[in-house]
Amino acid sequence: MEASAGRRQLLFQTGNLGKLAEARHYFEPLGFTVEQFLINGEPPEIIEPQSDDLVTVARSKISQGVALLAGAGRADSALLVEDAGLFIDVLGGFPGVYSSSVLEKLGLDGILTLLQGREQRTALFGCCAAMWDGERLLIGEGNCTGEIAQEARGEHGFGYDPLFIPDVSGADGRTFAQMSPEEKGRSSHRTRAYEQLVLQIG
Ligand code: IMP
Repeated sequence: MEASAGRRQLLFQTGNLGKLAEARHYFEPLGFTVEQFLINGEPPEIIEPQSDDLVTVARSKISQGVALLAGAGRADSALLVEDAGLFIDVLGGFPGVYSSSVLEKLGLDGILTLLQGREQRTALFGCCAAMWDGERLLIGEGNCTGEIAQEARGEHGFGYDPLFIPDVSGADGRTFAQMSPEEKGRSSHRTRAYEQLVLQIG
């Protein structure tokens, strides 16, 4: 599908270069350019609200970002943000919206330790993407179910990818980090959220 209308220059408000690469991989073949939103060479400081809901967090992030566009001389660009989280069933959805700080503090090994001896390892990766197209705020949500591997595997991707085995045909027990960017992109929570956005762009 080609982008038929709206602003094709997307500013992506993120400090995560893995997310940036995946956004480019998805949006550029559709006729968008994707550029990291930087102010004075840094991603803008955004306050994450206390919420256990990805949509609430994404809405808050984008409203803070939209308020910065004009001052950054980028009032003509569309803005993209997203919030993602890994929800592990047997841990009651932990780390969920705290995925980022948990990864920083506990690392992948910490998650594996929490699951040591557990047979039940199902999990869900969720993503909420929000886009300001200059006139409208668009929201797209996507999920990918799967399970947590017994050990970290693979070199691709970022974040929790070495632990997450998506529940998709052809995965054959491989983690996202053992898949090429193309293969992850066919089934990821992020792709599904972006697909919803593109349907709304029209
Ligand atoms: P946030 O959306 O930046 O808050 O992401 C939460 C945490 O999940 C961060 O540590 C990210 O690196 C990680 N994360 C987000 N998306 C993915 C993904 O697609 N694969 C693996 N880890 C991810």
